[in-house]
Amino acid sequence: MTKQLLLGQTLGFSGNPLTTEWADVTEHDSAGGVLIADGRIAATGNGAALRSAHPDATVTDYGDALISPGFVDAHMHYPQTGIIASWGKQLIDWLNSYTFPEEARFADQGYARQIAGQTLDLALAHGTTTLTSFCTIHPGSVTAFFEAAATRNMAVIAGKTCMDRNAPDDLHDTAQSAYDDSKALLDEWHGKGRANYAITPRFSPTSTPAQLEALGALWAENPGILMQTHLSEQLPEIAWVKELFPQSRDYLDTYEAFGLLGPGGLYGHAIHLEQREIDRLSEIDASVVHCPTSNTFIGSGLFDLMGLAQAGLRIGLATDTGGGSSFSMLRVMAAAYEIGQLRGTALHPAQLMWLATEGSAQSLHMGGQIGHLGAGAMADITVLDLASTPAIAQRHGLARDIWDALFPTIMMGDDRAIKDVWVAGQRVDA
Ligand code: GUN
Ligand code: ZN
Repeated sequence: MTKQLLLGQTLGFSGNPLTTEWADVTEHDSAGGVLIADGRIAATGNGAALRSAHPDATVTDYGDALISPGFVDAHMHYPQTGIIASWGKQLIDWLNSYTFPEEARFADQGYARQIAGQTLDLALAHGTTTLTSFCTIHPGSVTAFFEAAATRNMAVIAGKTCMDRNAPDDLHDTAQSAYDDSKALLDEWHGKGRANYAITPRFSPTSTPAQLEALGALWAENPGILMQTHLSEQLPEIAWVKELFPQSRDYLDTYEAFGLLGPGGLYGHAIHLEQREIDRLSEIDASVVHCPTSNTFIGSGLFDLMGLAQAGLRIGLATDTGGGSSFSMLRVMAAAYEIGQLRGTALHPAQLMWLATEGSAQSLHMGGQIGHLGAGAMADITVLDLASTPAIAQRHGLARDIWDALFPTIMMGDDRAIKDVWVAGQRVDA
């Protein structure tokens, strides 16, 4: 068994720094080490102590670079990689003008394979080791994504996006085919290697009640898996949902009524929530996913991170590519900070790093397995150069402590800050 020992600064968490004093649950070691064996983290601790205890380990010394769990993107759309940063529209127009025409191209499985590989490579180049992705209505788009992830040994979550109304004809499935195709893909892929299947109704405007009900039934038959969708992203969207579902109490109720509210539910955006929705999400132990670069880019609104954390919700962090305008979870953390500022809360770098790693992992019910720098977790690791550009380096040179040294990289960093990435204990060749 070959052992690897990574030396550098390390940052880990023993609790949730959004709901506890961050300093009480944050562990920084300026001369730390991470021991890897059999694809997992075998131990973390003082670098010199690990080195003398494991003289047989192959050592990679990263100096004062920061060894972090790989970033976990809890909500994105790999088929939208080709239309990232498309100008000038808000949600519904943006879907119709840019997103749906691009997603129609995924009828061609060769194109799906190309974009799946490209997206996963871009993610790795930006230090992201797990993606939670919507695919398109085409089952082949799911197969292409899972195959591309398996080639790279990445832990991913994905599902066939289901839509049987309010989308172009060539992007429609039916209630029955959505059930059948999702079930076949789930049976084939869930738990195969590092693949996890998520039942994926796009959002209530693009599903008939019959389709939502069919997917709710599929979830009831497979209660251990995740279900991902969108919730209360933009005000005109919420008004549209009210028109389409006049009998529903609120947006969340359009899922709840059809069996699509549960502990494994991942609700993307969740910006304009009513109190009943917050209470129900909390009661059920569901997750909401914050997509700050998307929320500012599409003009959706300001997510109430602290309010929802205090209400006890699981909160993941995500790029929402291509509504989000960056593949970088560093840029996403920066946007979360900026939205926090607009809401009157300055998020601490420890809180931002936790959200991008442990928080996202916990939102996916994968806490301790990924996004975690501790024994037993998979060795999915990102090493950050905290002085990666001249602009960051000059600021880093004046830093007073680790947080002051890290924050410029969070605010100004991009793929140049990613010094190395490890997936399941293997170094990824850049
Ligand atoms: N709501 C429904 N579909 C989408 C999508 O693809 N992106 C975003 N940001 N919101 C959505
Ligand atoms: Zn989305």
